[in-house]
Amino acid sequence: MAETMRGLKRSHRCAELNKANIGETVTVMGWVQKNRNKGGIVFVDLRDRSGILQLIFENGDVSEEDFEKAGRLRSEFVIAATGVVEARSGAVNENLATGEIEIRVKELRILSEAETPPFPIEENSKTKEELRLKYRYLDLRRPDLQKNLIMRSKVATLTRQFLDEEGFLEIETPILVGSTPEGARDYLVPSRVHQGSFYALPQSPQLFKQLLMCSGYDRYFQIAKCFRDEDLRADRQPEFTQIDMELSFVDVDDVIDVNERLIARIFKDILDVEVPLPIQRMTWQEAMDRFGSDKPDVRFGMELVDVSEVVKDSEFVVFKGALENGGSIRGINAKGQGEMPRKKIDKLVDFAKDYGAKGLAYIAIQNDGTIKSSFAKFMTEEEMTALVKAMDGENGDLLLFAADKNKVVWDVLGNLRLEIARQLEILDKGEYKFLWVTEFPLLEWNEEQERYQAMHHPFTMPMDEDLPLLDTDPGKVRAKAYDIVLNGTELGGGSVRIFDRDIQNKMFEMLGFTPEQAQTQFGFLLNAFKYGVPPHAGLAYGLDRLIMLMAKEDSIRDVIAFPKVKDASCLMTEAPTRVEQKQLDELAIALVEEEKEIEE
Ligand code: AMO
Ligand code: AMP
Repeated sequence: MAETMRGLKRSHRCAELNKANIGETVTVMGWVQKNRNKGGIVFVDLRDRSGILQLIFENGDVSEEDFEKAGRLRSEFVIAATGVVEARSGAVNENLATGEIEIRVKELRILSEAETPPFPIEENSKTKEELRLKYRYLDLRRPDLQKNLIMRSKVATLTRQFLDEEGFLEIETPILVGSTPEGARDYLVPSRVHQGSFYALPQSPQLFKQLLMCSGYDRYFQIAKCFRDEDLRADRQPEFTQIDMELSFVDVDDVIDVNERLIARIFKDILDVEVPLPIQRMTWQEAMDRFGSDKPDVRFGMELVDVSEVVKDSEFVVFKGALENGGSIRGINAKGQGEMPRKKIDKLVDFAKDYGAKGLAYIAIQNDGTIKSSFAKFMTEEEMTALVKAMDGENGDLLLFAADKNKVVWDVLGNLRLEIARQLEILDKGEYKFLWVTEFPLLEWNEEQERYQAMHHPFTMPMDEDLPLLDTDPGKVRAKAYDIVLNGTELGGGSVRIFDRDIQNKMFEMLGFTPEQAQTQFGFLLNAFKYGVPPHAGLAYGLDRLIMLMAKEDSIRDVIAFPKVKDASCLMTEAPTRVEQKQLDELAIALVEEEKEIEE
């Protein structure tokens, strides 16, 4: 039977001890990292969330019984040890915070024994992620994950402190809400009392925070769980956390100001990184033209160049066709990559095709100035020279061109630019380049449904000077919407909201809602707007993404305690699970079973 802590009280976490504690009697508790039994002497590395501490057991210091126990300690046993802090008898371990000391143990208790874990608990684990996620409670013992979750806790606390100082109130909004069809797919929760009716889990607190503004709370924030049933990626989970806020009597600059100071505070206090203020701003149009992306990574150049003018008279069908279809021809210059082997260039072409390109035209300028090109034969020499000049092409450069509709060209070159930067390993995770992207288009055209949809959401305010375009050329209307981008990741987004019922109704009309539909889905908001509504604006960050970048991780799974995998399941709890027929009956739900394939 396991021993208890009775009579013992933990005095320190492992790594809270150092040279200053030499001579003190202390009690530490934690997990055995490893055990080296050298005959008359046993060394144990003890681990808790603070770090690792060396314990030394020598026959005579401890009772015969405790010495025998020390000998049988194995990895992940939970123990308590009382002893005296001493300077290390052996070599000082520079890699450990506690490397100059050890604890000469007087008393040992084994609080819990452990089976051999399915993988070693160590930093930079080489174990496959699936196995680690299945045993997430063990994975979470690893120092890297512990550091990430500690950082996450600190960021949340600091955010609360800062926003409190700035006059924000933390207010909770419901998790069981009504379904709204805009945006991603909702997670639905069936109602037992109202059979056939469903709640939805909130995709964000958007409507509620706007209502709070109507109710006079003037500065709201919440660290809010959000739920979206969408395809998962490294930076997307079905449930994730936002730092969500809304402010009254403000415009774009006010929201940006308070958020820049919040970001600067978080980076200074937690990472000791100075974020120079004000943060750079760029309009959406400029971001697309220069980087082919609405979330450009501005840590490096390789900017897009529009060469449509240069090749406008060319007979090359690819270029000609693109221009005739209202598209463009743009290129990037991968400096110094002119001698890239053909195979590697072909891979880039395939990469471009994955992003919708029909092809990728290239000019590889060799170091000696000769040219290898996939389309020179379709061009005159003058045209080629002009093209190289327009791209600032020098000996040893690789020029890559896409010709298509703007949307495709941007997407292809924007992603190609990132891919080449990754291949060249020029991206430094320790360099933090923030950027505000502003003046997003209000609407985007949905090709499939042949209708406009809101680029941000239906409550976003058009820019004052573009209001007249709502009637004449809605696709051109820019919005008071902004995103905060960090190193090519969309960290957060927000907008100034419509607070005028006429504009709001016009917006719904443009999105194809009948007045009745608008009333059914957003009636409570529209009604609230009848009773005095302040101008308001807000923003929400993805907290998971923020921590991912701060912790220099590649996936938000590494900063979420219990994340889900690609198919939205949890490998540890095995959710989602089937439920008992009784539960379904209570909810009046009948399942349409997929026909099982009959095995022959
Ligand atoms: P938006 O939809 O842009 O805006 O979301 C804000 C931020 O939330 C993060 N995010 C996600 N993080 C992880 N997994 C996901 N599936 C996921 N989806 C979004 C992103 C994103 O920038 N209510 C508005 C905000 C506002 O207008 O105030 C909203 O939700 O970092
Ligand atoms: P083709 O005549 O189709 O063999 O194309 C000649 C060259 O142009 C090849 O290198 C193609 O990869 C390239 N190409 C084809 N379509 C496009 C496009 N839409 N944009 C850029 N290059 C293209």
